[in-house]
Amino acid sequence: MSEQTELEFVYVAREDEVPAGKNRCFEVEGRGVLLCSFPSGIKAIENFCSHEKKPMEGGRLRGGSRIVCPHHGSNFDLDQDGKSMGAPAVLPLTVFPVKVEEGNVYVQLVETKKPPANPWAIPGVKKIG
Ligand code: FES
Repeated sequence: MSEQTELEFVYVAREDEVPAGKNRCFEVEGRGVLLCSFPSGIKAIENFCSHEKKPMEGGRLRGGSRIVCPHHGSNFDLDQDGKSMGAPAVLPLTVFPVKVEEGNVYVQLVETKKPPANPWAIPGVKKIG
């Protein structure tokens, strides 16, 4: 029987390095981790959009859990596993689990989400013809 090892949490930054209502990117183990400071606390995503792989840093935060892509305006709900809530992006963002201890922010660097092999399996994509 194989045992699945849980990903460890890695340090990203101090919580107070990200101003309230803003986001800021940090490089961790060669990946861009975008920390977003919502009223409910810090959430983290990989710093590129699922649409054209452009950076999400600088995107506006909305409500309790949404970020708007600064390039073409898709918005994503981080409480719904990064789900796209509007075109042009249809794929979700990669959301990192977060833990904050004594003002230090840690994330689990989960794998980057990849598009499904069957594009018709993407929610919102309709087969024509
Ligand atoms: S790059 Fe984000 S919506 Fe196009």
